Amino acid sequence: MQWWFVLLMVLAALGCGPSLPPSKPLDQLTPLEAQGRQVFVGRCARCHRVDSTSGLNGPGLFGLYRKKYLRNGAPANDDRVTDIIEHGRGMMPAMGNTMDEEQLQALLAYLHTL
Ligand code: HEC
Repeated sequence: MQWWFVLLMVLAALGCGPSLPPSKPLDQLTPLEAQGRQVFVGRCARCHRVDSTSGLNGPGLFGLYRKKYLRNGAPANDDRVTDIIEHGRGMMPAMGNTMDEEQLQALLAYLHTL
């Protein structure tokens, strides 16, 4: 193998690998975060992956709050994310009336662990 090829592979591995450290491990979730995960599994998981940013029916949510911006350019914060959950966006249905405030807060706490 040529030395430059090896160098290219190393650079590719560094540059294109997952740029964020892994999500918080499931066995370290607080009770609130674990409750939020239940909400997520029940209502969001059919459309969103949590372990990658690649799409399912919606974009993968890995690292959601660890990136500065959402896909539409809005800042990645609770206000914007709550708005998307409550009112939907594009092909995502509005879910504001499918969960109470407690479930929403738990869900947001869980999303912060991704
Ligand atoms: C029926 C499929 C579907 C379900 C269920 C769903 N979503 Fe989505 N979601 C989408 C789609 C599609 C988009 C992209 C919307 C767009 O920008 O056009 C999206 C976008 C998002 C975004 C913005 C991501 C970004 O980077 O901009 C967040 C956050 C999100 N969804 C969270 C949730 C949460 C939390 C739930 C569960 C309460 C949920 N979604 C349920 C389909 C879904």
